[in-house]
Amino acid sequence: MGKILVTGATGFTGTALCRRLINDGHEVVAFIRPTSKTGALTELGVICKTVDICDAEAVLDNFTDISKVYHIAAAYRTEHSTTETFIKVNVEATRNLLEAAKQNSIERFIHCSTVGVQGEIDDPPADEEYRMKPGDHYQESKKDGELLARKYFAEEGVTGTVFRPVGIYGPGDTRFLKLFRSIARGVFVMIGSGSVLYHMTYIDDLVEGIVLCGTHPNAPGEVFTLGGENYTTLKELVGEVARVLGKQPPILRIPYLPVFWASIICDKVCKLAHISPPIYPRRVEFFSLDRAFSIEKARRLLGYAPKVSLHEGLSRTADWYRENNLI
Ligand SMILES: NC(=O)c1ccc[n+]([C@@H]2O[C@H](COP(=O)([O-])OP(=O)(O)OC[C@H]3O[C@@H](n4cnc5c(N)ncnc54)[C@H](OP(=O)(O)O)[C@@H]3O)[C@@H](O)[C@H]2O)c1
Repeated sequence: MGKILVTGATGFTGTALCRRLINDGHEVVAFIRPTSKTGALTELGVICKTVDICDAEAVLDNFTDISKVYHIAAAYRTEHSTTETFIKVNVEATRNLLEAAKQNSIERFIHCSTVGVQGEIDDPPADEEYRMKPGDHYQESKKDGELLARKYFAEEGVTGTVFRPVGIYGPGDTRFLKLFRSIARGVFVMIGSGSVLYHMTYIDDLVEGIVLCGTHPNAPGEVFTLGGENYTTLKELVGEVARVLGKQPPILRIPYLPVFWASIICDKVCKLAHISPPIYPRRVEFFSLDRAFSIEKARRLLGYAPKVSLHEGLSRTADWYRENNLI
């Protein structure tokens, strides 16, 4: 049995997956960047190799003795992300890894996509067959990366699986920190009614699902949505976060449309002034788009069964934020 390659191993999901694979007794290799923070991986015993996944030759040269790939790395939405970066990392680097996997006849390739490839869900919950309609350049590039992986699985002889996580949270994540912080400080303001649907997945449950995608005989050739047991309205989610923080549920609310228009103007003005916008349309749309998904296929074909309730997951996350003096 060869080594398992994890890309994006230094990230939130990648590190949790590496921990699980090492605990299961595997030898794990991570392709990292010269700037990546590798302390946690080294401690786990992961072999860190500086390999630029955007460089096809470098990827191929470093594929010896690899039997399985979990491709988790992605360029995310940050202030400085450009469409070119999204394409380079989320599509072209994916191609480099798939090509190396094909040439080395590896056992399995597990590709991380996102439910974001389906954009807003008009008729929730959506299953894997629901149409794709990415809402921004990041989601567009994740869609193209996913379709490329599926093409290699269907036509190029690579045995592989795509999984699409919903919003990932848990100890170690900082993406939901802003939400926790604003609720902890009593300054959270709901934009709109809060009746939109939101779906989260606790990191340990997600990792279990990813490992099933990489090991279960029913997984190859399939696409799976991996999410928590239940989705909630945004208002319920905010209420639950308040509860685990020992706060009253926030009551401040402002209407959606004026904020949305203000975000468009703010975004344009800030771009001209080369400063980071405090609000922009995507952030505001968080309050207006339904994102709820069915996990029935993963349940049926893989036996996927999320174990951590939203309350328990949010409590553990809040504890971690407190322990690290983040809230
Ligand atoms: N977080 C969510 O809610 C969510 C939801 C749906 C899908 N996803 C997908 O889940 C995956 C993991 O998400 P996450 O939140 O765990 O990510 P994360 O913590 O932001 O980590 C991203 C990882 O990708 C690596 N990376 C970024 N650009 C790279 C490049 N040019 N070359 C090589 N590596 C690069 C980062 O390496 P460095 O340490 O060097 O920066 C890091 O290891 C991604 O594929 C994402 O699209 C996430």
